[in-house]
Amino acid sequence: MTRQPLALTINGEIHDVMIEPHWSLLHVLRHELGLTGTKENCLEAECGVCTVLLDGKAVNSCILLAEQARGRSIVTIEGLGDPEHLHPLQAAFIEHGAVQCGYCIPGMILSAKSFLDERPGRVPSEAEVREALSGTLCRCTGYQKIVDAVIAAARQMSARPEAARRAP
Ligand code: FES
Ligand code: FES
Repeated sequence: MTRQPLALTINGEIHDVMIEPHWSLLHVLRHELGLTGTKENCLEAECGVCTVLLDGKAVNSCILLAEQARGRSIVTIEGLGDPEHLHPLQAAFIEHGAVQCGYCIPGMILSAKSFLDERPGRVPSEAEVREALSGTLCRCTGYQKIVDAVIAAARQMSARPEAARRAP
């Protein structure tokens, strides 16, 4: 099949790729651009490990055509922070021991970011966090430490909103 050009804005930078029309955004991120922080598993919107932000909203990149992301802002886990400047969510996941194998964590953190960004200055309840993260499955942690980490990050982000603004 003939490939077509596509410019994607990922983590604040434009990436020019040649795609086949049926390729998912997940495929392009991982296999064309090497952004393997976005994980791949069920490929049918069941597990959430492929979550990225599209114009700030959490989406399953496995069921989104790459073409559908044209002209929109994509954020992957690689764009959220770096070892010297962790996003408050990344720091809280480490502090709370919320990471085990790590496979679900990029999706968890980006889902949590989308959720918290929709309600700035508010610390959510445990039930609200569980509901917000219900689309991402974790086989390791039992979820409690993840929930605790998200609430701790929400507290930090409400107290110091500038710490959460580094992501593209
Ligand atoms: S790989 Fe996309 S939801 Fe499971
Ligand atoms: S930390 Fe292993 S799947 Fe969540």
